[in-house]
Amino acid sequence: MDHFLYRDAELHAEDVMLRDIADAVGTPFYCYSTATLTRHFQLFTEALAPLPHLVCYAVKANSNLAVLKHLGELGAGMDVVSIGEYHRARAAGVPGDRIVFSGVGKTRAEMRAALDGGIRQFNVESEPELDALSEVAAAMGATAPIALRVNPDVDARTHEKISTGRKEDKFGVPLARARDIYARAARLPGLRVVGIDMHIGSQLTDLAPFEAAYTRMAELTRQLRADGHAIGRLDLGGGLGIPYTRSNEAPPLPTDYGAMVKRVLGDLDCEIEIEPGRLIAGNAGILVAQVIYRKEGEGRDFLILDAAMNDLIRPAMYGAHHDIVPLTEAEPGTPLAPVDIVGPVCESGDTFARQRPMPPLGPGDLVAFRSAGAYGAVMASEYNTRPLIPEVLVCGDHFAVIRHRPTFDEMLSRDTLPPWM
Ligand code: LLP
Repeated sequence: MDHFLYRDAELHAEDVMLRDIADAVGTPFYCYSTATLTRHFQLFTEALAPLPHLVCYAVKANSNLAVLKHLGELGAGMDVVSIGEYHRARAAGVPGDRIVFSGVGKTRAEMRAALDGGIRQFNVESEPELDALSEVAAAMGATAPIALRVNPDVDARTHEKISTGRKEDKFGVPLARARDIYARAARLPGLRVVGIDMHIGSQLTDLAPFEAAYTRMAELTRQLRADGHAIGRLDLGGGLGIPYTRSNEAPPLPTDYGAMVKRVLGDLDCEIEIEPGRLIAGNAGILVAQVIYRKEGEGRDFLILDAAMNDLIRPAMYGAHHDIVPLTEAEPGTPLAPVDIVGPVCESGDTFARQRPMPPLGPGDLVAFRSAGAYGAVMASEYNTRPLIPEVLVCGDHFAVIRHRPTFDEMLSRDTLPPWM
């Protein structure tokens, strides 16, 4: 459930008519709904209660400062995967003791900065990383709280590019080696074992792979405790999928997920950490674009938009589906006709949808891509020297630009000419 609904045949974000935002900021732009962010965050906290838990929002999904600040004020922790994201979380007012640091390639400089600024836990993904963190922390006279990311070898049955928990994936340490590596971690200076971490993939639409992974986590918790480790936290990662179409998809709800977590892990007396990104931000955002041309091709028509693959790369990169709807709702009974919906970038991959049944649309008409709040703006680039598009946050009946569209001068000013030119 989100807060992007038609009222009097005009699409609104909460109480704001999206056409009004388009008039004020121009197209294309991203628009996020505060009420939807709040609701999705609360769904998780309610689903996990009464277990002690911390919802660590995966910053990578949408890292706009205003989004982070809003979630931080609701009590969210943050899952970061770079020191850049760490700085964003801190700038948004989230205290270090609510930030977990994940990622396969943390550098020593990143470790130092996070230890210096304060961190809840490092999710360590390999033995070399363990050694590096031990060295860095010991040299600083600090103690780094750690969880090992264990790869449970479970197939998340999601898109190949976002599946992370099989043994052929680059993530985590093999389950079979976990006890040895924990033993080693306990001997190294500068480290304190606090828990276990897993993350098996993203956009999971079935609870079974989660349950298989968490069952292994429960077993490992008991073994590690028997080995003498103080396992007090279980970080379950993110990955719960969202519906990308209105019609036929029904991924499990956070309540079902929470019930499963309680059943599998509830009696271990651990604090549960989860790292949802997509489920919090995905359906809390849309991308609004304008039709530039309608072109009649041979056997098919093309709707050419002012948004492109550089603004929303998910269709080009994963073949992902996003519902695309007109800002002005078509009259009931309007016939739909198939059309290819594309952007202006000079690649055939710059195609959002092929042969999508749409009501009649032409130049100047506005459309919205639904479910674009996660992995949309954060994955955008300036390919074709197209400026990063603005982000707008709606709250009730007001809205604000939370990232402006850069001017071409701003964009060009980042390049410098060498002295010989
Ligand atoms: N924790 C870790 C360690 C992760 O790597 C991820 C996502 C998450 C949490 C959050 O997962 P979520 O709840 O959002 O599924 N760009 C892709 C998604 C990449 C996900 C990467 N890791 C997409 O657009 O579908």
